[in-house]
Amino acid sequence: MSTAPNTELPWHLRDNWAPVFEEVTRAELPVEGELPRELRGLYVRNGMNPRSGWSDHWFFGTGMLHGVELRDGKASYRNRFVRTPYYEKNLDLMSAIADPTASPANTHVVAHAGRILALEEAHLPWQVDRELNTVGCVDFDGKLSAAFTAHPRVCPETGELLAFGYSFMQPPHLAYYRIDPQGRLVQLEPIEIPRPVMMHDWNVTRNHVVFMDLPIVFDLNRLAAGKEPLGFDADAGARLGVMPRDGGNADVRWFEIDPCYVFHPLNAHEEDGRIVLHVCRQPHAMQGGLQEVGSKDDTAARLWRWTIDLEAGRVKEEQIDDAPGDFPRIDDRRTGLPARYGYTMGLVPRVGSPSYDRWIYKYDLVTGKRERHDLGAGIRGGEPVFAPRAADAAEDDGWLLLIAHDDREGVSSFVVLDARDIEAPPVARVPLPQRVPFGAHGSWIPET
Ligand SMILES: [Fe+2]
Repeated sequence: MSTAPNTELPWHLRDNWAPVFEEVTRAELPVEGELPRELRGLYVRNGMNPRSGWSDHWFFGTGMLHGVELRDGKASYRNRFVRTPYYEKNLDLMSAIADPTASPANTHVVAHAGRILALEEAHLPWQVDRELNTVGCVDFDGKLSAAFTAHPRVCPETGELLAFGYSFMQPPHLAYYRIDPQGRLVQLEPIEIPRPVMMHDWNVTRNHVVFMDLPIVFDLNRLAAGKEPLGFDADAGARLGVMPRDGGNADVRWFEIDPCYVFHPLNAHEEDGRIVLHVCRQPHAMQGGLQEVGSKDDTAARLWRWTIDLEAGRVKEEQIDDAPGDFPRIDDRRTGLPARYGYTMGLVPRVGSPSYDRWIYKYDLVTGKRERHDLGAGIRGGEPVFAPRAADAAEDDGWLLLIAHDDREGVSSFVVLDARDIEAPPVARVPLPQRVPFGAHGSWIPET
């Protein structure tokens, strides 16, 4: 049972990081501007929201989903806790680590094979319905009992869901999962890595997956040196592991890169015998342990390009931009394929907490041009999720959806930007009936 110690609240429980407790359902919200009629579906975003009001770390809060349903130019809102054992028993991470079903389910929410999955990276997925009610734990007909990443990828060409899981405590410390378009687990491959590491995200292309063995290492020997068991260790090195999508451990080719950390890649694709990855790269992360998630300048992410030359066996590493940003997204229909446009959320490097910023960036990855949307003074954004105008619309022909928070007014809003004219004022803004704490990742789930 988590209980709040009698001390000043840490950053992740203050201001708009603080949780909300009410589950609200509200239809026909007031709309400023005009919601595009083509947007018919559910925008849903996950985030950490400790049920008890207390969590030892931002990452450990109970998952809460915030949904905005759009239809005929109207918007409705609802928010719901994900009712896993973590929620029901008000667990903390240490007491939940041994039970693969006891997920905080707080990091991402992804639709696949008719299911909506609430995800966190140390447990199994949990299914919710379109009303955000919890349906149950997903163990793929009993085939999976280990951790499942919060960042699986739906292949737009095959309809497969590609995923992995990692484990600090017991081998395999990494495993690859392939789920067919009907939602059945059809491949599970243990992957060997030299030591357990925190592997938050990864990359997929048309034919390959690329694991990122980056040095946030888990090592109980660090305790003897007075350190937390989890932390950044550049001496452990960093490697990218390229594997065919139907391959296994013996097929992985590892490529050395400079030690760094990447929470989130933008996209990856294949090009003339090379694999090109665009990533939000930070020089290091969590150097002092898990509590150091603040965006000091040298832990802020910036856009880089890694080009893996499969024949020459080396990686070219180039910084693309100097603006701090993370929570990168593309038009999901380009996942693993050449994508021209990428969208990120700006960060302000600041000691103490990850500082979501007023800027939403758009990158043209061909010309290198960056444009930005200014949400306004005192307003901080979130991950920009792309929603296409139609299923067959061109890349970038659609809107960016996000939840922003006005610190001065104390109001959270659902914001719709025209992706092709990102610097223009929002197409629509929908003030939400309650504050939405800064959170993590979301999805646009069109009506079918
Ligand atoms: Fe993430």
